[in-house]
Amino acid sequence: MPEGPVIAEMFSGIAPRYDLANHVLSFGMDFGWRQRLADAVAAKNPPVVVDLATGSGDVAFALKKKLGAGVKVSGLDFCRPMLEVAERKKAKLPSAWDISFAFGDCLNLPLADNSVDALTIAWGVRNLADRPRGFAEMRRVLRPGGSLFVLENSQPEGWARPLCRFYMNAFMPFAAGLLTGKPDAYRYLAVSSSGFPGREALAAEMTAAGFTRVRYEALGLGAVALHEAEK
Ligand SMILES: C[S@@+](CC[C@H](N)C(=O)[O-])C[C@H]1O[C@@H](n2cnc3c(N)ncnc32)[C@H](O)[C@@H]1O
Repeated sequence: MPEGPVIAEMFSGIAPRYDLANHVLSFGMDFGWRQRLADAVAAKNPPVVVDLATGSGDVAFALKKKLGAGVKVSGLDFCRPMLEVAERKKAKLPSAWDISFAFGDCLNLPLADNSVDALTIAWGVRNLADRPRGFAEMRRVLRPGGSLFVLENSQPEGWARPLCRFYMNAFMPFAAGLLTGKPDAYRYLAVSSSGFPGREALAAEMTAAGFTRVRYEALGLGAVALHEAEK
């Protein structure tokens, strides 16, 4: 896994076209996956939610839309160009005026112990240079009984596996290269996704990090998974 500054630099390079590439390469399914995440968070009625590795802010916007004005939603990321994209989008969304976006590293969160009711992280955990440390930080800042939601690429099974592998390894870097001019970033995406733990293995990592009631659901033929856990 590359170190944090290398990851931040890579996302700086694709920030201007990150959203477009996301929507095109997922055939628009990323909207539904973020919505599923927002629905799962809403079921917990959390007053304070922080979206980690928020990037261009789409999860924070989906959360705000779902949870409404009374809920405090913030987004943290360590890539300033991605945060700038989030701020520009926020300026055009009246309902998002009270979302705060700020610089923050998931491996050293700028948040007090036991201060957050729900944490979300979408397509961020796979990019952490030190996942156990990231989970330890998440657990530190969650209040007892608070919830962690992890939306991430996963391992499809059965007939979907070779199909998704071909798509990720062959087609996607080519198409993403055309869309963003940065095919290497999407080769990294393919490599980091194929080496990422499957649903059970990620659940085991979360349990090992001290989370309880860890559960998950497969989305998009198992190419994506939503894990939920409690402190
Ligand atoms: C694939 S993007 C996901 C963005 C967003 N969550 C979404 O749903 O589109 C991954 C993001 O994770 C951020 N990231 C990776 N490692 C991080 C870390 N240690 N701390 C904070 N942000 C991190 C990157 O800067 C990037 O914006």
